[in-house]
Amino acid sequence: MHRRLIAPGALAAASLLLAIPASAASYLPGAPGIGDPYYPYYGNGGYDVSHYDLRLTYQPRTDELEGTATLLATTTQDLSRFDLDFLLDVSEVRVNGAKAAFSASAPHELEITPAAPLPKGTSITVVVRYSGVPSTKSAYGFNTWHRTPDGAIAADEPESAWWWFPSNDHPLDKATYDVSVAVPDGTQVISNGTLQSTTSQLGWTRWNWRSNKPQATYLSTLAIGKFDITTGKSANGIPVVNAYSKDLGDEAGAARASVERTGEIADWLTGYFGPYPFSSVGGYVPNTTTGYALETQTRVYYSPRQFANGSNTSVVVHELAHQWYGDSVSLKGWKDIWINEGFARYAQWLWSEHEGEGTTQQLADYVYASHPADDPFWTVKPGDPGPDNQFDTAVYDRGALAVQALRNEIGDRAFFAVLKGWPQQHAYGNASVADFRAYAEKVSGKRLAALFDTWLFQPSKPAAPSARTATLTRAEAAPVRPKSWKKIEATNDVHGHAHGH
Ligand code: TRP
Ligand code: ZN
Repeated sequence: MHRRLIAPGALAAASLLLAIPASAASYLPGAPGIGDPYYPYYGNGGYDVSHYDLRLTYQPRTDELEGTATLLATTTQDLSRFDLDFLLDVSEVRVNGAKAAFSASAPHELEITPAAPLPKGTSITVVVRYSGVPSTKSAYGFNTWHRTPDGAIAADEPESAWWWFPSNDHPLDKATYDVSVAVPDGTQVISNGTLQSTTSQLGWTRWNWRSNKPQATYLSTLAIGKFDITTGKSANGIPVVNAYSKDLGDEAGAARASVERTGEIADWLTGYFGPYPFSSVGGYVPNTTTGYALETQTRVYYSPRQFANGSNTSVVVHELAHQWYGDSVSLKGWKDIWINEGFARYAQWLWSEHEGEGTTQQLADYVYASHPADDPFWTVKPGDPGPDNQFDTAVYDRGALAVQALRNEIGDRAFFAVLKGWPQQHAYGNASVADFRAYAEKVSGKRLAALFDTWLFQPSKPAAPSARTATLTRAEAAPVRPKSWKKIEATNDVHGHAHGH
């Protein structure tokens, strides 16, 4: 975890060696992290990526991945050197066509020193040639690359990119993508966005996927294996692409009966959140043994286990809600995770009401009543939970309770205007919990400091809101579990997830 610091003397010596003129004293290395206090080395400083072009080849038998990443970026400071986040083996780096020096550094940095220093505001093209066996690489003692009997998957949060492409690995730096992967004929490649084409030669098929809207690195996904692919269009006209491992066994029916509802559910969410923000929608179910689902942009990742007890449309609602809350509007820092999970969970509550399996208020009452004041549940602050509790159930359940509290405070008219207006306000960008509060205050005309503090930032159980006292007292006496509860909670299978922080 500890990085060596470069002594000022060493920096001066390096400048002399490079014969940088005295006026170039402002040329400094980019920071090894983007500045997120939850994850000090995630992302990097000094540049902003606008596009990733990944041209790869993967051999499922040996887990060998090789290829070339071409990054388009702009410098945001006078740069003598910069980092990418990456774990595979690099053979060559070029910056604006010229060979650059590079070295790997803990915990997951690729340090690149261009032949000539880069002035602030310069467009740069960085080409990284690499290869490696992702399953053999780890950082902080974990590895999130999943091998399957017929391939492999990259889908994890917050870290999945280090095992397959060099990046500025933080949601603050979103970019468009072209992902092109060659695999042996008969194997399929699934990624984000639209499938532009496939081409075959000499026993290999190359799959060309494109994401033409800004996408966070952790929302970029890659799945290689034997899949059945289904395509269609939602009633509103969104192109749908889903994929199912041919190897789902007894889960196959329930998985399809859930994920084939994607177009219908995306259209239904449009009624609450406004127009669907991307050019395609869908999900994939690989033959992994993981338990969770993940809102990978346009192409949701579902573990087969999500469907072990039958179909589950609630998890589909959750992951598709993230396309607006989390993917199009991404968090600014990982502390803002409530913007993602509180609203994706609330969408499940809305779906429950729509399906006649419990209203949002009944679900809120149930969450409130089922955690007594001394339950550690209330010590988690959804508005800033800390890296260890980032995906605690409280971020989801207390987070959705906070959304219901907001609704009760500002009334349905303002509330639904906020719910639909927010994704437009920050479309394809980044926003924080503080930004959300400011927006809700603007739309409702109410001061909401106390409400946000109580429901999102206090490490204790809020007093029952007076308007609801009657219901809550009754609920507290005998909490009624809404019919939808089990399937809603099943979405949180992230607790069985391979690594912790
Ligand atoms: N964001 C995911 C969801 O709620 C859950 C999640 C949290 C997750 N951490 C993860 C998924 C790690 C995969 C890996 O839908
Ligand atoms: Zn979620």
